[in-house]
Amino acid sequence: MPEKILSVNNLVINFKTDNGILKAVRDVSFDLYKGETLCIVGESGSGKSVTSKAIMGILANNAIIEGGEIMYQGENLLEVSEEEFHKIRGHKIGMIFQDPLSSLNPIVRIGKQITEATLINSNKLKLMYEDLISNDLVAYKNTIAKKKIQLNNINNNINSLKKEFSSFDSSKKSSLKQEYADKIQKLNEDKEKIKKEFSIKIKPLLEKLNKSKKVAKQKVKEYKLSVLSEKKKLLNENSIILTRCITKKEKNEALKQRKQIKQDCINKLKITKAEAKKRALEIMREVGIPQPEKRFKQYPFEFSGGMRQRIVIAIALTETPEILICDEPTTALDVTIQAQILELIKKIQKDRKLSCIFITHDLGVVANMADRVAVMYAGKIVEYGTAKEIFFEPKHPYTWALLSSIPDVDSKERLETIPGTPPNMIYPPKGDAFALRSKYAMQIDFEEEPPFFKISDTHYAATWLLHPDAPKVKMPKIVEERIKKSLKDYKKEV
Ligand SMILES: Nc1ncnc2c1ncn2[C@@H]1O[C@H](COP(=O)(O)OP(=O)(O)OP(=O)(O)O)[C@@H](O)[C@H]1O
Ligand SMILES: [Mg+2]
Repeated sequence: MPEKILSVNNLVINFKTDNGILKAVRDVSFDLYKGETLCIVGESGSGKSVTSKAIMGILANNAIIEGGEIMYQGENLLEVSEEEFHKIRGHKIGMIFQDPLSSLNPIVRIGKQITEATLINSNKLKLMYEDLISNDLVAYKNTIAKKKIQLNNINNNINSLKKEFSSFDSSKKSSLKQEYADKIQKLNEDKEKIKKEFSIKIKPLLEKLNKSKKVAKQKVKEYKLSVLSEKKKLLNENSIILTRCITKKEKNEALKQRKQIKQDCINKLKITKAEAKKRALEIMREVGIPQPEKRFKQYPFEFSGGMRQRIVIAIALTETPEILICDEPTTALDVTIQAQILELIKKIQKDRKLSCIFITHDLGVVANMADRVAVMYAGKIVEYGTAKEIFFEPKHPYTWALLSSIPDVDSKERLETIPGTPPNMIYPPKGDAFALRSKYAMQIDFEEEPPFFKISDTHYAATWLLHPDAPKVKMPKIVEERIKKSLKDYKKEV
């Protein structure tokens, strides 16, 4: 069994809007395995981008994370401190968006944009120090963050009780006064309990952190001293050589060496601009940008859409991420360029053993990229399985509908567009959200939400059609044929 690198469990995300609370992500769970590509597919508005933004920690301000967890390296990303999220975002988890222009600064040269992240952290001594204390710092900060979250939750509960109480009329107020006071007191007691529990947990973590700060400081100092004393020693030796030089050539050689000794010393303490540039050019080559030296000095508007997307990929790669989230990375590109960028992402993923979450509404792209597929509808995953299972044995009527909307390769005409429109997520429908648009809907679909039914160890679908008592319904023959044809032709084309 491959190693799980990321686990999203029961994620619930709402947005505050002028018209009410919009339920964007409703109990989403999935795992990402090391080295795989998981495609998340679904119509516009199904919650794909919101899910990926939650993983990156870049949700809009009006988002409310109602529940769930996103586990990465043993930590819940929804509960970690700012420090840790900064370390993870961009560094361990990179993201590529649909529109490369929006992720590039139009008035800054491409080279500077690629080297920026490397140069921000150019002080090697500082990096070394941060690295040495990182585990203890993260443990300490995360515990504090957890305490804050728990206290915040209780404060929210207290505030809503107070608000509720203040909305009562005076007779209700007097009869319920004691009950509300008791509830609030109980919550305040809980707060005290949490504070106590955490102070017991936090104290040893802080002690450990302080100790490791001391050790780290010492180590960094020793390293710096050793670099400087090595430099001194080499410069002294070089001085002796210089005094013994007879010819001009010998002297020039010795002076060149002297310069190199100084540069080597700087390189050991700092990432220099030259070093960052060398690395940037290597990555530009890796993502297939011809003449990188010339391109380095140009502005984004001098690049074509495909080349810009390559730059965005290059920027994501300067940080050597483990997970790459691609949100519709090729939608804005024309078909041939699209295929090239997909090939590039595939190559990089293989070379660097990245795990990918690939978001798209294009099933052709899914067929080309996915190891596994999760189908999203109205804020929920309705079916997931290996690419083969989803394409050849789909079970959810929404997956059927989605598959039948793949355009015909010859006529470019779509077999069937999905009837109706996606639901208004301020008032998500009861039961199976797709029922309103599904010709296979049964009474129960309008009343009760279907659980996931297991089809194989890797394949699950949330539809009442899989209940043993449901009438046996098969995927429409015509859809089946269309899928087979589309996939065959698509593969031929690529
Ligand atoms: N900041 C926000 N405020 C209010 N609603 C939002 C916000 N961001 C997203 N939404 C809503 O959340 C739902 C899910 O949006 P999301 O962007 O995840 O869709 P998507 O599946 O990525 O669609 P697309 O294919 O169009 O990119 C939509 O109904 C959207 O309107
Ligand atoms: Mg989106």
